[in-house]
Amino acid sequence: MKRIVSGIKPSGTLTLGNYIGAIRQFVQLQQTLSDTEFFLFVADMHAITVEQDPAQLKKHIREIAAMYLAAGLDQDKTVLFIQSEIQEHVELGYLLQSLTYMGELERMTQYKDKAKKQETGITSALFTYPVLMAADIILYDADYVPVGEDQKQHLEITRDIATRFNNRYGSFFKIPEPIIPKIGARIMDLQNPEQKMSKSSSSDKGYIALLDDPKVITKKIKSAVTDSYGKVQYDPINQPGVANLLQIYATLTNQEIDTIVDQYQTLGYKNFKEDLAVVVVDTLVPIQKKYQEILASNLLDHILDQGRTRAQEIAVKKLTKCKRLIGLGR
Ligand code: TYM
Repeated sequence: MKRIVSGIKPSGTLTLGNYIGAIRQFVQLQQTLSDTEFFLFVADMHAITVEQDPAQLKKHIREIAAMYLAAGLDQDKTVLFIQSEIQEHVELGYLLQSLTYMGELERMTQYKDKAKKQETGITSALFTYPVLMAADIILYDADYVPVGEDQKQHLEITRDIATRFNNRYGSFFKIPEPIIPKIGARIMDLQNPEQKMSKSSSSDKGYIALLDDPKVITKKIKSAVTDSYGKVQYDPINQPGVANLLQIYATLTNQEIDTIVDQYQTLGYKNFKEDLAVVVVDTLVPIQKKYQEILASNLLDHILDQGRTRAQEIAVKKLTKCKRLIGLGR
């Protein structure tokens, strides 16, 4: 039996980038892989590395948990849980900090980017964040970790830390492999296609929230930045805006980019954007409907309670052994 582990931070509303790079991948993997367990969680401890409003944080935690299910994950094949409900993540994170070098963390591009944007008030938790992420993964002996492109470096450091532990204390942690999709691993901002689509984008026209109203989605796609070439073709360097829209179209319709280019090459951007808006709306509306149903039922808490029990069972055993190997306690 193989194990897949991944998480999403509740630091704002979920975007189409999160859906294409992560959630949709989880659903597709679950539908194609047999004999694989899915451990998926809401990474709330990661969210507080920057300041969060407590009421908003609570709301976003539920939103993500419900969205995993609304997007089509099978509750019988998924251990769905909230990171902060399993104390072992933080404890293992601390143990792994004693195997992680400052220099390694200083090289993390996500930390460097965030630190650059926020000149004061950078927390030490933001700095040690990749170590907690490593703990999230190796605590469950993950075989695979499906993520978007921006998490690749964090997976590399996870592998380094786990290998270092194994070299020092004997083979104990499984070394996880990332799964990064070929297309859609980095969905870009609709207004600034040089930048990753993110909920913290400067303009809300830059991202599509999974809960956006269909009219808003259509408007955002129609106003997405393109270029003056005026021809639908896949050229990420010279036409990054169009290339991004093509990636969205291709992933959501399971088509090759070339097929879509053939279809729209002579039709211009207006037609292409109109059809893409329909594709995105048709994808998101059923998810939104299901999401509302899940939130209105008491199913979610039941699933999260079950998830906590199962995750805890594994986490407690692994951490106890880990502390023994290190020589802690009596
Ligand atoms: P987070 O919450 O920023 O993003 C969640 C997932 O969505 C992917 N993603 C994207 N994919 C494509 N295009 C985009 N524009 C885009 N934006 C986000 C991310 O790559 C990610 O897969 N540190 C993680 C959460 C985490 C985690 C873990 C993940 C904590 N512990 C353990 C895997 C395993 C994060 O902040 O992701």
